[in-house]
Amino acid sequence: MRRLWKIREKWRRVMVVLLMMAAAGTTFTGCGMAGSRRIVRIALGQSESHPEYLGLLAFKDYVEERLGDKYEVQIFPNEILGATQKAVELTQTGAIDFVVAGTANLETFAAVYEIFSMPYLFDSTEVYHQVMEDEEMMNGIYQSTDQAGFRVLTWYNAGTRNFYAKKPVRTPEDLRGMKIRVQQSPASVKMMQAFGAAASPMSFGEVYTAIQQGVIDGAENNELALTNNKHGEVAKYFTYNMHQMVPDMMVGNLKFLESLTPEELEVFRQAARVSTEVELEEWDRQVEEAKETASRDMGVEFLETDVEAFKEKVLGLHQEMLEDNPDIAPVYQAIQKVNEEVRDKNIRGQFKDSPLPGRGPMWAVRSLLEPKPRSGAESGAERRVPIRD
Ligand code: GCU
Repeated sequence: MRRLWKIREKWRRVMVVLLMMAAAGTTFTGCGMAGSRRIVRIALGQSESHPEYLGLLAFKDYVEERLGDKYEVQIFPNEILGATQKAVELTQTGAIDFVVAGTANLETFAAVYEIFSMPYLFDSTEVYHQVMEDEEMMNGIYQSTDQAGFRVLTWYNAGTRNFYAKKPVRTPEDLRGMKIRVQQSPASVKMMQAFGAAASPMSFGEVYTAIQQGVIDGAENNELALTNNKHGEVAKYFTYNMHQMVPDMMVGNLKFLESLTPEELEVFRQAARVSTEVELEEWDRQVEEAKETASRDMGVEFLETDVEAFKEKVLGLHQEMLEDNPDIAPVYQAIQKVNEEVRDKNIRGQFKDSPLPGRGPMWAVRSLLEPKPRSGAESGAERRVPIRD
């Protein structure tokens, strides 16, 4: 009943926004005008304090400072224009101009996006950032949705995804019999099944109530979900098993982008870049803050765990996904190469700094292979120096 009420309430809010937009002369046609200015609408699932919102504010400022006589940028946070999957469709048709969406939301439009759902794809946050900042590789991916009518302009960090639930998940075995929310993508469902839990796909906005009412036992996400989205009020155990690093994408309607002059397009591109820089910085700061707030004010317990045990459950998916979806193979190979390069670099660095008297190079390599006890919730880059057999 309460769920039904929430859905009704959400639709009521969407209708109010649409009416307000219509009243302001910005009808839902994708070419809203305020006076002589073209309204550029951006949908966001997150709240006004989230790093992505702050990034989008920087985007707005950058565009309006340079093209303010022609364009006004309006940001609609909190899924106010509908759940993100819906907002992607609105961007596709041009009803709105941009949306910030997780890559899981893009998988049905371009199969290559499935790569980001692959568990334990990146060895570390260092590799993840290096790949996401590799323009050549990312531009190929960004253009893959052109046929669907939209293109990605930039990426935002959405951290590392981990389990959080009403009861502690200390080992993969604890997941047995648990119902865990996943993003609405077949790859996410497969991953959860491989972990041994029952997958419950639903939109992000529904997760809080679903945990609260016991419809699901938990979910998986970054630390900001606990505080920014308040999930820490209803799920008190957060396990650092670090199964995915999934970026968010700023997606633009292709017709709109093509309607811009080359100079204007460059301004929008630069604005997107600036928004990413703001977001990345804010992200690191807010994650630290979220950990503190969640444990101090919300009573959330952060659990360290044996990441390898979780990894073992799902690594078989790499081969399976590559066979099912050949579109991801070239990107997969390219990412493996970066994994190897960073691994080699770290081995060299460690060898340079650490040889003890009487210990040769093989000692340094072996010492990296040995599992190390971990403490605290450091970044993946610091935590792991994985070596593949
Ligand atoms: C993160 C991510 C969102 C995504 C959400 C989810 O918050 O930033 O883009 O929608 O996870 O799990 O659905």
